[in-house]
Amino acid sequence: NRAFTVAIDGPAAAGKGTVARALAAHFGFTHLDTGLLYRATGLRTLDGTDPVEAAKTLKAKDLEQDDLLRTPDVAQAASRVAALPEVRAALVDFQRAFARRSGGAVLDGRDIGTVICPDADVKLYVTASDEIRAQRRHNELVNKGHEVTLDEVAADLRSRDARDSARATAPLKPAADAVELDTSRMSIDEAVAAAIAETERRI
Ligand code: C5P
Repeated sequence: NRAFTVAIDGPAAAGKGTVARALAAHFGFTHLDTGLLYRATGLRTLDGTDPVEAAKTLKAKDLEQDDLLRTPDVAQAASRVAALPEVRAALVDFQRAFARRSGGAVLDGRDIGTVICPDADVKLYVTASDEIRAQRRHNELVNKGHEVTLDEVAADLRSRDARDSARATAPLKPAADAVELDTSRMSIDEAVAAAIAETERRI
């Protein structure tokens, strides 16, 4: 007895969040950006809090500080704590409970189709070229008023993707049954339309 679940994974700044939010709005599903769990945990470690303790005591309120959580420093801290098996284990139940919500759910992250929701009804692996991902994330940050160069953004994405792909526990990789969506040459509307079409075929 489970709700319809859409799992969206992929490297940093590929457009997962944008596709996930639009998909959830289109079908009336709830959406969880699971990166926020790791970002909020990472943020709490910056003042010396133990990462496992931080993950175990995370509160919904900790996820509601979007601007702070979106900085490259916090992204790096997130990627570091995300490599710790005990941190990941502490966050599993919350994500699976979210996925079971009646009415359908979209979760986006790195290990949703492989570990968190291996039985998801739809699995998308969203990618884009390194250059395009860096440009998009740079624009996003500059528009929010962050002072960051394109090179700095590209370096952050590179190092996180390398760490996220190389870790032993729940590494970034497409599930065997995931459908790949390369958004390099797609507009947001085109990427969303492709995701909606894929979901409609499985509803
Ligand atoms: O998706 P986002 O870029 O916000 O994720 C920040 C970091 O959190 C990632 O670089 C990754 O290390 C970690 N993460 C993860 N598993 C997820 C979601 C995010 O390891 N499901």
